[in-house]
Amino acid sequence: MAKQELVLKMKPKKEDMSIEDLPGVGTATAEKLQSAGFDSMLAIAVASPGELVESGGLTEVTARKVIQAARQALEMGFESGQDLLAKRLNVVKIKTPSTALNDLLGGGFETNAITECFGEFGSGKTQIGHTLAVMAQKQDEDAYAVYIDTENTFRPERIVQLAEGAGMDVEKVLKHIKVAKAYNSDHQMLLVEKIEDLIKNDGLKVRVVIIDSLTAHFRAEFIGRGTLSERQQKINKHMHTLARLADVHNLCVYVTNQVQADPAQFFGDPTKAVGGHIVAHASTFRIYLRKGKKGTRVAKLIDSPNLPDNECGFIVETAGIKDL
Ligand code: GTP
Ligand code: MG
Repeated sequence: MAKQELVLKMKPKKEDMSIEDLPGVGTATAEKLQSAGFDSMLAIAVASPGELVESGGLTEVTARKVIQAARQALEMGFESGQDLLAKRLNVVKIKTPSTALNDLLGGGFETNAITECFGEFGSGKTQIGHTLAVMAQKQDEDAYAVYIDTENTFRPERIVQLAEGAGMDVEKVLKHIKVAKAYNSDHQMLLVEKIEDLIKNDGLKVRVVIIDSLTAHFRAEFIGRGTLSERQQKINKHMHTLARLADVHNLCVYVTNQVQADPAQFFGDPTKAVGGHIVAHASTFRIYLRKGKKGTRVAKLIDSPNLPDNECGFIVETAGIKDL
């Protein structure tokens, strides 16, 4: 047999390839990578070299080679517009009980995307988070929601009200929401990495991941100018993990964000989102929420890839959010 043929024969078919077939990945490294959540070709292909260096103990050079090999095996690279359109067909739009809010987002809160919602206290960010945890299940009975609570504001009682308001089986809705309290930013990042286990090991069909709030711990822990770049690096890594989750598992990521006074802004609304450009760039959709007249809420869409900037109003009621 010619040498060339032999090589071809020995090379596993790409669908059978495991991460141990990658150059430079032995059993020990594979185990390390696997336990850090990099357990498929896709996970490796979309990882950054730094992540593999950190969790698999690879050198930077090997990490780059491994990622490159995984990308080649998966034939990643350019996709045709047609392929991408086909992929878009799998996107689910989670609908809230407010048609106006859904329309603002082109039909609902999208999977395969990160939606950031920022606004002052009491503007309704947490209410939307609770709503998504319930409504994801309205559209798909098997769906699960993961709620990472950093401010101790998750309320099962509120879920009961919303589920009743939507005419759903309350017990089942509660059972399908997995809540974890994050005590600091490292814990928060770790919890997000654990979501992969819920999907892979426990087989849960996670449709929505809510991080409420994304930035509170980071803001409290990194104070002063000197720590800013470290904070931004960590937030960047966190957003990267979230983006990968959204993409690989076709789920909706909803993150809330606080606002801070922006002294540079004399006209208009003198507030801006915490987390700066990093959060803004990593988010596919951004909603600015504010309190309107007579208890209404105003949602403004900023920065969407395919929708016009626009705004709408809604109200928060005991049974759930509603159109005006
Ligand atoms: P921070 O987390 O403090 O930054 O605020 P937030 O944007 O998360 O606000 P949140 O979503 O917690 O909104 C709280 C507001 O929602 C309250 O002030 C009420 O106006 C409204 N709200 C919450 N629960 C109910 C309810 O059961 N019935 C009614 N009618 N309104 C509610
Ligand atoms: Mg809140």
